[in-house]
Amino acid sequence: MNAGAAEVPAPTCTDWRGWSADEIAPLLEREAGRWARDFHWDQREPFGYVEAARASGRLPGVVAVGPRGAARGWTFFLRHADEFQIGTMVSDGAATTRALVDAALASPLADRASIVLFTPAAPDLESVLQTHGVRVEPYDYLVAQNAPDAPDARSATGLRPMESADLGPVAALLGEAYRDARFLRPFVTGGAPDDWRHYVTQLVETRGCGEFLAEASVVADDVSEPGLLSGAVIATRLHDDTGHIAQIAVGSRARGQGLARHMLECSRRALRTRGLSRVSLLVARTNTLARGLYDSAGFKPAGTFLTGIR
Ligand SMILES: CC(C)(COP(=O)(O)OP(=O)(O)OC[C@H]1O[C@@H](n2cnc3c(N)ncnc32)[C@H](O)[C@@H]1OP(=O)(O)O)[C@@H](O)C(=O)NCCC(=O)NCCS
Repeated sequence: MNAGAAEVPAPTCTDWRGWSADEIAPLLEREAGRWARDFHWDQREPFGYVEAARASGRLPGVVAVGPRGAARGWTFFLRHADEFQIGTMVSDGAATTRALVDAALASPLADRASIVLFTPAAPDLESVLQTHGVRVEPYDYLVAQNAPDAPDARSATGLRPMESADLGPVAALLGEAYRDARFLRPFVTGGAPDDWRHYVTQLVETRGCGEFLAEASVVADDVSEPGLLSGAVIATRLHDDTGHIAQIAVGSRARGQGLARHMLECSRRALRTRGLSRVSLLVARTNTLARGLYDSAGFKPAGTFLTGIR
């Protein structure tokens, strides 16, 4: 800031449940527009659920306002079991981010809870979270074009489309595949089998991570253990042109043999067949094994999200 320049006063946080639907609608629309523009990710339906929960008083959150009452940012939060989850955080600058984080963490819902946050990066969010003792890890949003001539790996490798009976085996596979991961993850922070089952069910049944596409989600049966899987991809549709790899995992015994690469190519081809010319995914910046796979498959950074855990 220039010497002598007037300091922008810190915004005041107000409970967003006191705002009318007409006042909140433009805030949600602007953010949905940003997701569509920056990530090719249609958030209108999920934000519709957010608004319904807010308007009925079930979803707490805050809007940060300047001295004249103009909105400068917003966020929402909820308690799920012993987790305090902070949702999307929208902010016009460092002071707003600080006010929003302070207000969220002052909620009684945060008492004696672990804190989990996942949002597109907001100004100064990383350092603000760190001052609250929250560990932070960036997640890169990667995008690749889906070449029309991607090889059809499905028949060659015995992969098959995921079915509803695979929910349990996919959950068991993810639990095992992520057991020793060192990077922070905003999903299934504990790791109990039921939590993985709940997570996979949510990916398949809700639009939080896009619309589940069974035909582009592939699994590899474990040939030595009937009923178990060696690998799985869960694919979704984010937008008219964009498919999303919501999960990809290979069991520890099947690693290093090209299974993830084959599953990824197979899924990309199925997405392409549905007219989805782009494919995206989110990966923890320190997940070096997965990043090697994505780099060589042509994925490029197109945005940054942050996860925070305390
Ligand atoms: C990431 C993961 C899916 C890779 O599965 P995999 O079947 O072992 O991967 P592949 O054998 O197909 O290897 C594909 C590429 O990944 C990278 N890779 C995989 N294992 C690696 C290792 N041990 N060391 C270095 N690079 C490795 C390499 O770039 C490799 O390409 P290359 O063989 O041409 O060098 C697996 O490690 C996993 O399930 N990890 C836990 C879950 C996870 O992190 N999922 C990704 C979420 S974004």
